[in-house]
Amino acid sequence: MASTNRDSLGNTFLIAVALCLVCSVVVSSLAVMLKPIQQENKILDQKKNILRAAGMLAADSVVGPEGESVDELFSEFTVRAVNLDTGEYVDDAVDVASYDPIKAAGSPSQSVSLGTEEDIATLRRRENISLVYLKTGPTGLEKLVIPVRGYGLWGTLYGYLALDSDLNTITGLGFYNHKETPGLGGEVDNGNWKAAWRGVRLFDENGKPAVRLVKQRSPASSVAASYEVDALSGATFTTRGVQNLVNFWAGEGGFGPYIERLKINGLARG
Ligand SMILES: Cc1cc2nc3c(=O)[nH]c(=O)nc-3n(C[C@H](O)[C@H](O)[C@H](O)COP(=O)(O)O)c2cc1C
Repeated sequence: MASTNRDSLGNTFLIAVALCLVCSVVVSSLAVMLKPIQQENKILDQKKNILRAAGMLAADSVVGPEGESVDELFSEFTVRAVNLDTGEYVDDAVDVASYDPIKAAGSPSQSVSLGTEEDIATLRRRENISLVYLKTGPTGLEKLVIPVRGYGLWGTLYGYLALDSDLNTITGLGFYNHKETPGLGGEVDNGNWKAAWRGVRLFDENGKPAVRLVKQRSPASSVAASYEVDALSGATFTTRGVQNLVNFWAGEGGFGPYIERLKINGLARG
């Protein structure tokens, strides 16, 4: 009887190929199966960040002050699409539930190129349509949350800025994604620093974005002090990046036209 050589080159090659095939099928299947869960987690994380910026969810908590779930808390928000050039609502132009403004900024047909002078947040392109998150109550608008992003030292910081009902006082600022160095620029995640944003004024008396991150604060009683937040020590580039991104998104090139319309027209027409 002829015996087969199990250690032959052909056999070894066959086993290696079979093993590679099995492994790739397992890995691909897992990736496909886990995608919906990853997507759900991404959306949940986004909701948490919006709620945290709006001061409705504590940094170290996944439930509200009365035990409400993230979804329950987030249901208090209305999400609307806004044309950033005109400041008008354009809910019919996109599917608000799935629209991704950051992805749109990468598409030439859905974004505009920014000139060097106006591009203080180093974005290069800005989407034509973005999303706003509005929380209303019996007395009208209570919170407005807008997505913000801009370059720090090592990469783009992505986050949310929340405003009180006067559309001028900052409720909170938080970043859900950045590449800054832990302990230096990464201190943007420090709870104490984030708390210092509460109550800071966004616009000056001429309606221009006026936030300043400073190493030395102006006298507490001065008007200048109301626009100031402490700079992050040892992180001049990140600090400058945060100041620029806040002022960019609050300004003419960002949500400025929308906020202006909202102040004049109220919620109905935006
Ligand atoms: C390893 C390393 C990581 C750094 N990370 C940051 C950072 O995340 N953000 C930042 O603004 N500066 C960072 N810096 C510091 C800057 O290079 C620069 O020295 C600093 O912004 C000077 O700031 P200061 O004037 O506030 O001290 C880093 C430096 C080193 C060596």
